[in-house]
Amino acid sequence: QNHLLGIEPLHPAEITALLDLADQYAALNRGSKRGDALAGLTQINMFFENSTRTQASFEIAGKRLGADVMNMAMQSSSVKKGETLIDTALTLNAMHPDLLVVRHPHSGAVDLLAQKVNCAVLNAGDGRHEHPTQALLDALTIRRAKGRLHRLTIAICGDIAHSRVARSNLILLGKMENRVRLVGPPTLLPSGIDQFGCEVTHDMAEGLKDADVVMMLRLQKERMDGGFIPSEREYYHRYGLDADKLRHAKPDAIVMHPGPMNRGVEIDGQIADDITRSVITEQVEMGVAVRMAAMDLLARNLRARPRPVTA
Ligand code: CP
Repeated sequence: QNHLLGIEPLHPAEITALLDLADQYAALNRGSKRGDALAGLTQINMFFENSTRTQASFEIAGKRLGADVMNMAMQSSSVKKGETLIDTALTLNAMHPDLLVVRHPHSGAVDLLAQKVNCAVLNAGDGRHEHPTQALLDALTIRRAKGRLHRLTIAICGDIAHSRVARSNLILLGKMENRVRLVGPPTLLPSGIDQFGCEVTHDMAEGLKDADVVMMLRLQKERMDGGFIPSEREYYHRYGLDADKLRHAKPDAIVMHPGPMNRGVEIDGQIADDITRSVITEQVEMGVAVRMAAMDLLARNLRARPRPVTA
């Protein structure tokens, strides 16, 4: 692949190869933390939407592998003077970066940008479309906790309709032959979602029954366009993960959350902090390893092919 824009185009063998490499980087990160796979390369991070985990881990990943990393401060860039996404991308492209990491509020914006530049582009989340590195770090976390990434029952719960994390996970976990259940209120489950081969339910007890993995999602209010926003108290009562609801899952089920987390809305704080069940901190740790692996693989491809010249 020339870019990492989504999970959709990836073959299961490519996903496995990336996770295998990420496992090696996870070991490196607990030791010397130093590699040279990106030495001599320039990485630019462009985040048009807020981020803590993704932006920090892409920066750390690039630096640990020897890249020159620049974080564009989008709030003080010429985007604020009306410069378009494409003109911004072409301007940066003229400085010959090798890796562009982009987060944007509009679905499809990162794909569009990738068509205009001659470096490798990584999607750090576009609208409600895809967040591929999140799904890959979730997959690595599951594989390390469960010893496999197939034939597991995985419940993804909450605001599915507005979640790029849910969409990328649904695609990835389906490709790896898992049983995926989507759980949420009817207003937060998009119609036609069962075309992805998943089960859909509005009932937490049914959705969590015998699950190996329980993945909770945040209410994405910033994408609700003034439409239905549930009362947080009512939502927590019906869909928030607490000890009572978790009892429906397998006794060794793991609890995941991509963050940022709203305690007392989609998850009880004690469940989130219970290190015998929650792998939320490990998800963050695996985020660095997966992003190192993703950029390493794209850089190998970049070095192997002639770079086209764009206008
Ligand atoms: N999971 C995730 O994308 O978190 P950030 O928005 O903090 O990057």
